Amino acid sequence: MRLELRDVHHVYSPGTPFEVVALRGVTLSVEPGEVLSIVGGTGSGKSTLVQHMNLLLVPASGQVLVDGEDARTLKKSELRRRVGLVFQFPEAALFAPTVQEDVAFAPHRIGLGDEEVRTRVRQSLAAVGAGHLAERSPFALSGGEKRRVAIAGVLAMGPEVLVLDEPTAGLDPATRQDLLGLVRGLREAGISVVFVTHDLDEVAEVADRVCLMEGGVARAVGTPAEVFYANLENAPATVQIVAGLKAAYPGVGEPVRFEETTAALRELLEG
Ligand SMILES: Nc1ncnc2c1ncn2[C@@H]1O[C@H](COP(=O)(O)OP(=O)(O)OP(=O)(O)O)[C@@H](O)[C@H]1O
Ligand SMILES: [Mg+2]
Repeated sequence: MRLELRDVHHVYSPGTPFEVVALRGVTLSVEPGEVLSIVGGTGSGKSTLVQHMNLLLVPASGQVLVDGEDARTLKKSELRRRVGLVFQFPEAALFAPTVQEDVAFAPHRIGLGDEEVRTRVRQSLAAVGAGHLAERSPFALSGGEKRRVAIAGVLAMGPEVLVLDEPTAGLDPATRQDLLGLVRGLREAGISVVFVTHDLDEVAEVADRVCLMEGGVARAVGTPAEVFYANLENAPATVQIVAGLKAAYPGVGEPVRFEETTAALRELLEG
């Protein structure tokens, strides 16, 4: 699926004293099978932006298009199945007595048969490394375990685009790595992933493209190298180090990933 936001504006509580203009004309696409990272400061509009991708929030003006068609023409339930959204702190939305019932809830509700639901629950819990938690109560899990279960719940719907709003916030390094592995695996399976994060190193490792939000606008959109080398104050340490050397050593190039960066620096030192 190709998802497109065209000149999307969003205003919270319009016409009241609490009015907040959160998006000021964002144009952005999510290409089939890509990992798109959304970065930017607190309050820059990231969560507001991604909630437009399945029309959970409706633009004040502008359009959301699915494969070129106005998303409003699709059935809401269909759109939400195809574009799966995992909220910031999704663990708050777990509710069933066991993990497997929680993950099974939405697939059941769209009328899938018991056998199909069981398969999906098993596969999606396995995909997030939570197969062993199936019989547990979701309320008696750690924060990171709850996060995995919440993601499994959205995966079980078989989305074509998976939107993750800060999925790695507050997780330990091993769990973060697991999640990044999941993101890579989804991309390999042809599923697009939209990934909101404050961790620029993660972006460097997994993103095909980056959108840098600032004050409700997309300040830059492009490959990690394009966005980071042009916006050093929003770049990971690897890029800042190389950028500091670039004037004296232009041959170092524009590496972004950790491994690329160490390889480029090794070459520089040996040469
Ligand atoms: N429900 C709401 N009602 C009113 N204003 C809101 C609401 N949600 C967000 N805002 C405002 O909209 C702007 C963008 O918020 P948003 O949550 O999209 O930011 P964010 O980039 O996701 O930030 P963070 O990194 O802290 O999650 C902020 O000024 C915020 O105060
Ligand atoms: Mg947010």
